[in-house]
Amino acid sequence: MRLTATLILLMAWCCAGYRVLVVFPLPGGKSHNILGEGVVRHLLAAGHDVTYITGVPSKLSAPKLRQVDVSANQRIFKPEDYCDIDKILSQGKEIVVDQYTARLQLTVTNYTATHEHVQRLMLDPKEEFDLVVIEWLFNEFLVGLSTVFNCPFIWLSSLEPHGLVLSLIDEWTDPSYVPDVHSKALPPFTFAQRIRELWSIIRHKYIRWQLMSEEQVLFERAFGPAVAMRGRQLPLLEDVKYNASMILGNSHVVIGQSTKLPPSYVPIAGYHIHQDKALPENLQKIMDDAKDGVVYFSMGSLLQSTRMPETLKQGLLAMFGGLRQTVIWKLEETPENLPKNVHIESFAPQQSILAHPNCILFITHGGLLSTNEALHFAVPILGVPAFADQFQNVNRAVQKGIASQVPLSYDLPRELKVAIEEMIGNPKYREKVKELSFIYHDRRAPGAELVHWVEHVVRTRGAPHLRSPALLVPWYQKMYLDLLGLVFVLVLLSVFVVRRLLSKNIDVNDVNKKNR
Ligand SMILES: *[C@@H]1O[C@H](CO)[C@@H](O)[C@H](O)[C@H]1NC(C)=O
Repeated sequence: MRLTATLILLMAWCCAGYRVLVVFPLPGGKSHNILGEGVVRHLLAAGHDVTYITGVPSKLSAPKLRQVDVSANQRIFKPEDYCDIDKILSQGKEIVVDQYTARLQLTVTNYTATHEHVQRLMLDPKEEFDLVVIEWLFNEFLVGLSTVFNCPFIWLSSLEPHGLVLSLIDEWTDPSYVPDVHSKALPPFTFAQRIRELWSIIRHKYIRWQLMSEEQVLFERAFGPAVAMRGRQLPLLEDVKYNASMILGNSHVVIGQSTKLPPSYVPIAGYHIHQDKALPENLQKIMDDAKDGVVYFSMGSLLQSTRMPETLKQGLLAMFGGLRQTVIWKLEETPENLPKNVHIESFAPQQSILAHPNCILFITHGGLLSTNEALHFAVPILGVPAFADQFQNVNRAVQKGIASQVPLSYDLPRELKVAIEEMIGNPKYREKVKELSFIYHDRRAPGAELVHWVEHVVRTRGAPHLRSPALLVPWYQKMYLDLLGLVFVLVLLSVFVVRRLLSKNIDVNDVNKKNR
């Protein structure tokens, strides 16, 4: 009798879901919320209770899902001001993402933490969580949530592993062969590139240092009351920042590069891929009937193609109209004079389109989700990068032989045409992408990996065994600059002593001479 009761209790304990708080506060930009939804979906499927703080409330609904809407963040972060095709074209260069981003992201995260819905959650003493999963967005402000709920946290990093995130759990990457988060350069670096990569680190550190005291003040204001209410003291942001149990990264070595990673970094790229819906009937027919193949063109959700200059749009339409292939263009509105072989889709189901065997080319801005999906479904990439990490992603894909690149300019239609014809005519891209796609799939399922590590962190109370001792060692000690300093002092000292001795000797000689 007692045994069965214990067994039942044990089963209830082991199979009860954990309460996980998932935080993806970026509004507007759909891609970040595709990543957020992926996390939510896998955790729900594994039977956990999920509270989802989101800038783009999801259509998902489940008894164990609760959403905390922070879409009001849109008031301070308007994606279209940030990456406007028109602006990029007229400025003739990409938008530099640095100091501006750091401040912008601090504003977004602070706004999220002080949002009334989030404050209500934190100030309710009945609310408890076993774990927080936070998307890392150029600052660490939201770690306050783990302090409030007194539970471990995991970073979800949307990009390839880079120094800014790895230094939170281990140490900065080596700038002599690992490019900075938004760098266009790929190793092996030239001398000038190596200097530039080193300079990026110094710049990042300076930008972060500049914001530090302001961040601390906002941190106390946002999380202090809730922590005090729960009878604890708020530690310094600088201390909580480096307390993550691990990082789950939207990366895969075949897309990025083989980089030294600590055991607390686990790559899970592709976990968001989820072909739940078949193609809509009309699209299915269009793709089935495309005997010369389908070219799929999408510049992502952040870059609104409706804001593309009219001349460029007409130029692209005319060029696409001249192709033998069928073209599916993801555009928010249907332009006039649409050629027969061009189809406009405002909500193109990208994964299902790429999955269709007739899809032979993907023209993309090169966001990491798009390059991942291209690799997953083995479709070669024609990259038109516009900002942030897209240059690096496309450069890498080109280096690996699965892509070509065309710059975003008013000359786009002409240059695209040349590249499309070359890529469709040359089988090497398709062969290479098939080969890399095989490597991409030859691993444990990324969704299962995600669930496993989330549960592992909860079961081991924050996975302290994964914690890197590198976090305890200051940078000058890692570079042995203290030893170098000591050697320098010793050398100086011995030079000084030898000089003194020599000069004494000379004095003695002089005296001897005089005496004679
Ligand atoms: C760091 O995390 C551990 C485990 O979750 C927790 O016990 C500790 O209080 C945290 N420390 C800080 C400074 O947040």
